Amino acid sequence: MEKILDIITAKMQQAFADAGYDAAFGRVTVSNRPDLCEYQCNGALSAAKQYKCAPIQIANAVVAQLDAADYDLVEAVMPGFINLKLSGAFLQNYLEAMRTAPDFGTEKIGAGRTCVVDYGGANVAKPLHIGHLRPAIIGEALKRLYNFLGYNTIGDIHLGDWGLQMGLIIVELQERHPELPYFDPDFSGEYPKEPPFTLSELEEIYPTASSKKTDPVFAEKAHIATYELQQGRPGYRAIWNHIMGISLPDLHRVYDSLDVHYEKWLGESDADPYIPAMVADLKNRGLAVESNGALVIPVAEETDKKDIPPCILVKSDGSAIYATTDLATMVQRMQDWAPDKMLYITDKRQNLHFEQVFRAAKKSGIVNAETELEHVGHGTMNGADGKPFKTRDGGVLRLEHLIKDMTDFVRTKVVENKIVSDDEVESTTAKIALAALKYGDLSNQPTKDYNFDLERFAAFEGNTGPYILYTIVRIKSILAKYGAWENLPMAAPANPYAKDLMLAITKFSPTLENALRTSSPNLICAYIYELAGCVNKFYHETRILGEENESLKAGYVSLIGLAKNILETCIHILGFSAPEKM
Ligand code: ARG
Repeated sequence: MEKILDIITAKMQQAFADAGYDAAFGRVTVSNRPDLCEYQCNGALSAAKQYKCAPIQIANAVVAQLDAADYDLVEAVMPGFINLKLSGAFLQNYLEAMRTAPDFGTEKIGAGRTCVVDYGGANVAKPLHIGHLRPAIIGEALKRLYNFLGYNTIGDIHLGDWGLQMGLIIVELQERHPELPYFDPDFSGEYPKEPPFTLSELEEIYPTASSKKTDPVFAEKAHIATYELQQGRPGYRAIWNHIMGISLPDLHRVYDSLDVHYEKWLGESDADPYIPAMVADLKNRGLAVESNGALVIPVAEETDKKDIPPCILVKSDGSAIYATTDLATMVQRMQDWAPDKMLYITDKRQNLHFEQVFRAAKKSGIVNAETELEHVGHGTMNGADGKPFKTRDGGVLRLEHLIKDMTDFVRTKVVENKIVSDDEVESTTAKIALAALKYGDLSNQPTKDYNFDLERFAAFEGNTGPYILYTIVRIKSILAKYGAWENLPMAAPANPYAKDLMLAITKFSPTLENALRTSSPNLICAYIYELAGCVNKFYHETRILGEENESLKAGYVSLIGLAKNILETCIHILGFSAPEKM
């Protein structure tokens, strides 16, 4: 569906042309004086310079050409502004078209295009911690947004499953249980099916091993073990399989609880087979060059304002690094999925890494010239005091524990307020807690840092997830009392509150497109906050179910029904959902 601004701009341009002026002056914008009008056109002011006459003269002539039926107000005001308020009939028709169109008439701007969304940042054998919250939440929202706007989306977790943590675990395990067959190079039987450790043991083994990195002997052994694992040493591969088998279900469990889902669970290990051919090719074509014993791709450009070091492909000790894996992963993605775009969501401290990798990928032709590469570098989530988030004993807080804290807090409220029956407490609590957590995060611009404030995020009033849910639940209960409402047509606005709500609804698809273009789910949050505000204002100022005129009542119900559907669609994109009662 055409956007409302485009429709009235087209009409305005036609009016300029009909009045004898260049149509290009007819651009309409949302009013910056909502007290005076809803939309405005300032084109007469610029046109006056070209036509050497008073702007008001042009504005008057243009207004005379506009179809008065489209507007409640259309006037030329000094020195030459054109102020507009849409007519009720115009809005009614527009919203009726939205109501009956698939997905409220949003244009599928991504149709026929594939976007890989690489987000989450999980590493095998290390529990998810609070640093993993933002990339998971922002990535999931962006993926759903792309999908809603027509893209074929592939969410890929790009697991860290191939790094030094594996070598550290192997060496630590060997020190504890040297008798296990995994460490015997001459062992030729079958390795045990049962893993040599449980999840909780693994969760202890890794940090213990990691703390020994400062011991040069231990560290050297871990590096060798990592190298041998990557070369395919069977005993180490068997341990790796055990680690994966234990760690993956645990990652699934935590991501499920966040309603974050991946289409692909590929990892760095899956990119490994692509490395040798890629490196050889880059070397042959002279794109990768020797530098201090390492193999690098120079990526600096003349226009650079700051120093962009070369992208290291192979270190002097022969090992591949993070950038190598990312490039090899691009090779795999291009081969298997030929995406039009790859979107990465990580901490902004990785900005330089992605700048280097993207340049190397373009320069070497690993991706096509027209393949879009975008990195969203998010800011840090700090504690309520604005300082880095730490547990009481100074450690990093596990993501699970953060989710549990929020859930416990919300559950107390749900129980105290006697919101739902006992058997619904858990599911209602989970939905509200997830909304609090996700909206609290997503309402901030991704690149900015923010402070995590459990009580503020979980409040049922204010700019919060629970407030949005509350608004949806309130509408649902009115709709349920009314009865079948789904097919009621839109009516013209019966009061100013209805009109404000209708105007807010029309901003749905421009908001989504804007959010996609700027990778800013926060724009969707701001939008639903405004929309919920309009709904609540309308609700307080209007007798909806008490209205005696049946056709007026039906119009009200149809309007709040559409508002509810739009709010629910938006929160689905953001990655949470509303309970039945609250
Ligand atoms: N596992 C990485 C980390 O912990 C993040 C991976 C992000 N994705 C990527 N393609 N590099 O930092």
